[in-house]
Amino acid sequence: MRSSTRKFEKYYNPQLHGEIRMDTNTNVLGSNPAASEFLKHLDIDLNGYPNTYSDGLRGALADLYGLEADNFIVGSGSDEMLDVSFKTFTEWGDTCVSPTPSYTLYNYFVEMNGGKAVNVDLDEDFQLDVDAMLKPKAKIMIMPSPNNPTGNCFRTKDIEEILSRSEGIVIVDEAYGEYARDSMVKRVNEFDNLIVLRTFSKAYAMAALRVGYAIASKPVADMMTAVKIPYSLNMISELAAIEAVKDQDFVKKSVELVNRERPYLDAGLRKLGFETYPSDSNFILAKSPIDHAKLVSGLKEKGILIRDFGTKRRTENCVRPTVGTRELNDLLLGKIQEVIDGC
Ligand SMILES: Cc1ncc(COP(=O)(O)O)c(C=O)c1O
Repeated sequence: MRSSTRKFEKYYNPQLHGEIRMDTNTNVLGSNPAASEFLKHLDIDLNGYPNTYSDGLRGALADLYGLEADNFIVGSGSDEMLDVSFKTFTEWGDTCVSPTPSYTLYNYFVEMNGGKAVNVDLDEDFQLDVDAMLKPKAKIMIMPSPNNPTGNCFRTKDIEEILSRSEGIVIVDEAYGEYARDSMVKRVNEFDNLIVLRTFSKAYAMAALRVGYAIASKPVADMMTAVKIPYSLNMISELAAIEAVKDQDFVKKSVELVNRERPYLDAGLRKLGFETYPSDSNFILAKSPIDHAKLVSGLKEKGILIRDFGTKRRTENCVRPTVGTRELNDLLLGKIQEVIDGC
């Protein structure tokens, strides 16, 4: 195996026995209705290639945000967009900075592309330490806002300062951007080193179809487009995503549900003895009153999956449940009570 990837471990892949999934921060309302309806009546020529760069979806996204189609790169999940960013802008051995704690796959994509991953601690409030992030003079800096797994957004003024002072590319990963008040999407023409990532896997309820996109100024987007594997987004996913973009009511309804239910789940967790952290997203990071591994395995036995971050630095003994519907939240809180009682 290549020396830079030899220590890689396989990604999270729980063995499923019909459990309710509150571990992946997908949309608890279920499949995107417009995309599902489209798939039911699907009749396409399987013999033809999709459009090379998914121009139909890029056009739909340009209309949605009031930008140009040339500001968009579309692919198989925002994970592909991460990979394309590193492939486009890093040389072997280049330093790439991301915060700790944040999305676990960043280091994987950096190292897979020959980069050196440097992780910089967030401050006590899980906000960016701007000077510390800038110090390694990274070729690429990457930060998710809202952050996964902590749930909070970073301050816009900190992101702006990083963009202004950094000589490298800055990726703001807005996988949970629909749930947040602030966004950098509309600022891509103001900062020529900014790439924003978005996905159809979360608020759009289409994780199964693997659609994600990057937004950047045209010169940056052109460079990434030239590097991206042509046809990487299949035709079915592209067409379904175009239908989903047209149905903004569903996205709005999904966000409203999270805004309503997040305080309810948060209060319920606190009542059970958890310490919770403020979230701008559809999940909550919570420090467990009992051993994290016992809690997560106990819930799995009772048919619910939540994500365990308890062995990672800065999130010791923490778990991350997705915010559910009222019914799901009550079920989760009830099962947690049972696991605690059994300890
Ligand atoms: C912060 C963050 N970025 C990117 C992704 C990947 O999303 P996609 O399904 O579009 O590849 C995730 C998925 O959980 C995420 O949490």
